[in-house]
Amino acid sequence: SSDNRVKIVEVGPRDGLQNEKKAIPLATKIELIERLARTGLTTIEAGSFVAPKWVPQMANSSEIMEHILQQPVEAPVPVTYSFLAPNTKGLQNAAALLKQNPGRFSTQLEPDVKKPGIEVAVFAAATESFSQKNLNCDIKTSLERFRAVIQESKALGLRVRAYVSVVLGCPFEGFDVDPHKVAEIATDLLESGADEISLGDTTGMGTAPRTSALLRCMSAAGIRNEDIAMHFHDTYGQALVNTAVSLEHGIRIFDSSVGGLGGCPYSPGATGNVATENMVYFMETLGMETGVDLDGVADIGAWITQELGKANDSSVGKAVLGA
Ligand code: HMG
Ligand code: MG
Repeated sequence: SSDNRVKIVEVGPRDGLQNEKKAIPLATKIELIERLARTGLTTIEAGSFVAPKWVPQMANSSEIMEHILQQPVEAPVPVTYSFLAPNTKGLQNAAALLKQNPGRFSTQLEPDVKKPGIEVAVFAAATESFSQKNLNCDIKTSLERFRAVIQESKALGLRVRAYVSVVLGCPFEGFDVDPHKVAEIATDLLESGADEISLGDTTGMGTAPRTSALLRCMSAAGIRNEDIAMHFHDTYGQALVNTAVSLEHGIRIFDSSVGGLGGCPYSPGATGNVATENMVYFMETLGMETGVDLDGVADIGAWITQELGKANDSSVGKAVLGA
């Protein structure tokens, strides 16, 4: 049934790679995205139009977008590619590429299942210290900037996802994150026109009771479950427990990263996102439908972690492959 359907947002090519110190070849990034697109994933975060001196690994996101537009891969289901934009400068860089490639992509206003979908993502923080470290401005200023980014995105017909980071723990302020503040920020972003709020447990400090309390607070603030995605990092191994709590609450959109890749450059010590392999397997054990080919994702996780010279951080990936 439709209530059993979950959407997995694959963030590996962006959240997974952004923190890697060694420059990853463009061809590897493109191969990663194309392989993921063949597994049944419907949303893949492909890059980030941020300042290259802040996040050098994402500097070739224009080339990635260009490739997606000009040589779209054949996928079993329509795929939307998401790109982060922290300000109007980032959005304008993305928009310029889109304007150079008219008719080559699908938007919210003009959907076309035969073309790659393009989506924009903005990212706020739940604490002032994280906002300063990640965006070099306070929360209020960031929300004003995002309002402009969202409005310009909407004018281009694009769907917008909005993250709120450090919702369950902050590297600088600890557990002292106010869920009411998270709800207030999410409400502001929705009022600005965001289509989906992704609540980021950037540090992996989230626990089952605190995840539950946060979601109850979101509901009390009038935010609908269908507008919420959960973005868990597995630093403390709590991501799937928190996912179970979120499912129980009625959330049906979850972010994950193939091979458990990831970490945030402005969140010291943060490890990877919950692995897509683990997420898909977990959903299957619950009878939920992801539409994602677990074996396919496991192969990709083994391949990309080897390419990066890292350990495969997906327990399920390793088990499935007998590795
Ligand atoms: P700033 O230094 O205050 O920006 O940074 P500025 O406006 O003063 O500009 C400084 C320079 O950057 C200028 O260049 C601008 O042109 C350039 P210069 O004149 O010095 O040569 N610039 C840009 N270049 C390209 N694209 C742009 C752009 N903007 C300015 N968009 C800024 C402010 C927001 C730009 C900076 O703080 C930034 O890029 N931050 C992004 C940090 C980031 O990407 N973090 C990781 C993503 S968030 C995350 O991972 C969390 C998430 O996964 C959820 C979770 O787990 O919680 C989403
Ligand atoms: Mg993240």
